[in-house]
Amino acid sequence: MDRRDFLKACSTVAVASMIDPFVFSNLLSAQEGMFKAYKKALLVKEDGSPLREEDLKPHNAYIFFYPHASAPCYLIDLGEEVKPVDVKLKDGKTYKWQGGVGSKKSIVAYSAICAHQWSYPTKQYSINYYPPDKPSETTKKSGIIQCCAHLGVYDPREGGKVVDGPPEVPLASVVIQEEGGKFYAIGILGVDQFS
Ligand code: FES
Repeated sequence: MDRRDFLKACSTVAVASMIDPFVFSNLLSAQEGMFKAYKKALLVKEDGSPLREEDLKPHNAYIFFYPHASAPCYLIDLGEEVKPVDVKLKDGKTYKWQGGVGSKKSIVAYSAICAHQWSYPTKQYSINYYPPDKPSETTKKSGIIQCCAHLGVYDPREGGKVVDGPPEVPLASVVIQEEGGKFYAIGILGVDQFS
């Protein structure tokens, strides 16, 4: 994604609005400290109306901000079902990533702040999603999220697992809940580096 596309994506999905405190499910509460609930937030479009599944173009990475106004995240419709997987950490700990949401279970969300040294989308450096038909020019990999700072590569179909490069922990995922066709961010799953 170049700068122009990034700005286009930014304008499509705006900051989530804060609503009622979240009561999380047994599944998430059993993640042995790998899930952290933040305030439940409705994902909205630039005009303030709730984001709907049909607003998402497959393989376009939309930016929203969560759990803080300065923390960019990606929302991506990967176009086909993305199944839950176990994500392993270097210390042997494992947590279950929830897979995609939406009618096709194809929508995923991740932090856009690299888990290595916290690069985030700017003019100079960026962490981008490369769709299956548009491989990265540097690593030649596609269908991945790649950080251009030190070429850390993550797999969005596998809970943000590290595929290549120096990151030692997976990309943190944003847990998205669908209710009546609307999407809510409810917390962060993975190694929480937000403070
Ligand atoms: S900061 Fe992203 S790979 Fe180093």
